[in-house]
Amino acid sequence: MTQGMINVAYIGATILFILALGGLSKQETAQRGNYFGIVGMAIALIVTFIGSVTDNYALLLAALAGGAIIGFVLAKKVAMTQMPELVAILHSGVGLAAVLVGYANFLEHDPNLIGVEKSIHDVETYIGILIGAMTFSGSIIAFLKLSGKIGGRPLLLPGRHYLNLILLLAAIWLGFSFVDQSAQGLGLTPLVIMTIIALIFGVHMVMAIGGADMPVVVSMLNSYSGWAAAATGFMLANDLLIVTGALVGSSGAILSYIMCKAMNRKFINVIAGGFGTPKKSSSGAQAGPAGNAEDIKSVDAEEAANMLTSAKEVMIIPGYGMAVAQAQHTVYQITKSLREKGVNVRFGIHPVAGRMPGHMNVLLAEAKVPYDIVFEMEEINEDFPKVDVSIVIGANDIVNPAAQEVPDSPIAGMPVLEPWNGKTTIVLKRGMSTGYAGVDNPLFYKENTRMLFGDANDSLESVYKHINA
Ligand code: TAP
Repeated sequence: MTQGMINVAYIGATILFILALGGLSKQETAQRGNYFGIVGMAIALIVTFIGSVTDNYALLLAALAGGAIIGFVLAKKVAMTQMPELVAILHSGVGLAAVLVGYANFLEHDPNLIGVEKSIHDVETYIGILIGAMTFSGSIIAFLKLSGKIGGRPLLLPGRHYLNLILLLAAIWLGFSFVDQSAQGLGLTPLVIMTIIALIFGVHMVMAIGGADMPVVVSMLNSYSGWAAAATGFMLANDLLIVTGALVGSSGAILSYIMCKAMNRKFINVIAGGFGTPKKSSSGAQAGPAGNAEDIKSVDAEEAANMLTSAKEVMIIPGYGMAVAQAQHTVYQITKSLREKGVNVRFGIHPVAGRMPGHMNVLLAEAKVPYDIVFEMEEINEDFPKVDVSIVIGANDIVNPAAQEVPDSPIAGMPVLEPWNGKTTIVLKRGMSTGYAGVDNPLFYKENTRMLFGDANDSLESVYKHINA
């Protein structure tokens, strides 16, 4: 394959990746976006295979087959609720790849590189390994936190900002030393020390982040993995890797910004850590109740069904519990029945509902809920006073009035959906436990709130039967 053909293929793949990102920005075009991405990646793989990357086809085939099998098995096996952990662990793979490619590149000296050109190449190698190592260890901690293998409580070491600063200054100093030594054919020692520092920094950075900030961290690690890939692209002088890495890096950064805006947080404060410090979380820590037990008013499925059928305006607010219960199909059955009875049913989606960006939209699309009745938080929050019944399905943090009412709450200032401004709210959950941020929820004790306890899907199936009885 000539270099010209390779370039044309790379440009084609790049355009397809841009179209993929554009498509993924809207539910209606997301599937098409995925197809563009698949074709773009297929072109990239074919060009890598028949291009001039290596002569060792046995090794290349083994790596491709290994990757394909792992990807296929994971995609088949992973439950929707495990997606964020999967994304985190995949980011760690990108980080590790950047580190390994960086070391391989450093150890395999290119004798043609001399002078300034060599220094530039060394800087690329150094930055690639630095970002890669940070992404690798940070993503592993994110995986452990998201999968509940370690608690969500932020680790707030005394003087942690100084620790970060010292690590940063050490990494910069080691960088100069590396470039200096590398010119004389040395440099492995500063490279190894920097890698250890970057690994520690990645662990410390994510350990310091509280439960409620995890969405920002996931998208931030996504961005880092892109920059690590772009740095690897510079190292290998591979244009497609540079462009693809930059696309992932910048789209991850934009997503982090959107997440920060959704949570009313400053990016730098997220990195500094500590927000959403859980007192008690689903993962096991302690919290005090936000009201008195006698204020909790529970209803059964029949009463809930009666409230829904006699309403004119119903707002459905799905959260992480809907994903756990896999209740989206029953939700849609109920939506159809209510609409047939003349009830106006809409969905209100919080930007960080569930455990990954767009989690609820994906589930609702899977259940074939029409897009035109699904609204973003800022589109419908003002409509709650006109809503007769809001039905909160396995959501907690995203409908927590403590964000507005309790100034020293760990989630103070985070925008939330406001069902309490409507006539009645029915909350479906199994018990009184807190959500991901570990903050107790005063909504459950409000005068116009009714609790329907039980697994969300079991409760909704029962409600559906009563609606259609
Ligand atoms: P959460 O606040 O986590 O609350 C989910 C609730 O669902 C829990 O209180 C739980 O209560 C209930 N639940 C669990 N399984 C259930 C089942 N089978 N049936 C009925 N209820 C069930 O969820 P949310 O309101 O969607 O908020 C999302 C949280 O996750 C936010 O804090 C957000 O910052 C964080 N987060 C989001 C992301 C992204 S990008 N979306 C990523 C990481 C973290 P019971 O145990 O009492 O049933």
